[in-house]
Amino acid sequence: MIDIEFHLNGEPVRLRCPADRRLLDILREDFGLTAAKPGCAIGRCGACMIWLDDAPANACLLLALRIHGRSVRTYEAVCRDPASQPVRDALAEGGGLQCGYCTPGMVMTLAHLHQLPEPPDAPAARELASANLCRCTGYGGIRRAIERLFEPAEGSAATPIRPCGDPA
Ligand code: FES
Ligand code: FES
Repeated sequence: MIDIEFHLNGEPVRLRCPADRRLLDILREDFGLTAAKPGCAIGRCGACMIWLDDAPANACLLLALRIHGRSVRTYEAVCRDPASQPVRDALAEGGGLQCGYCTPGMVMTLAHLHQLPEPPDAPAARELASANLCRCTGYGGIRRAIERLFEPAEGSAATPIRPCGDPA
């Protein structure tokens, strides 16, 4: 067992737990923060994405000993921040949501990129978000959301957003 202290969504928290307990389990089981989802458990799907010290990280790969002294933000806090509203709107209006299992992780990645002092252009954002897998909606809506949120590459035209349900 180890004692750890860290900031969780802005609040200081203390915890005694096994050093190898996953942050994903700590969030879901100890704090009831269930937006970060268990998916692949090997850092390949992005369903468990949180921000660690304001950078996206996979909670399934983070062990308790690595979060001592760090700052963790989860979707529950980020989605209440008006700064993430454009991302949530773009996904909803672009038809990038279906079951929602991947959505918190997708929002965490896109909101981070969108809030960078120098956000990437749309192709780069697409590449950077490619570690977030969606299992059900298809990527057309997610791509449209990204094109709406980020500048198109020079010389290329952004695809217009279609209402949810319209064929791409
Ligand atoms: S569950 Fe963490 S990356 Fe898939
Ligand atoms: S909306 Fe269902 S997995 Fe992405």
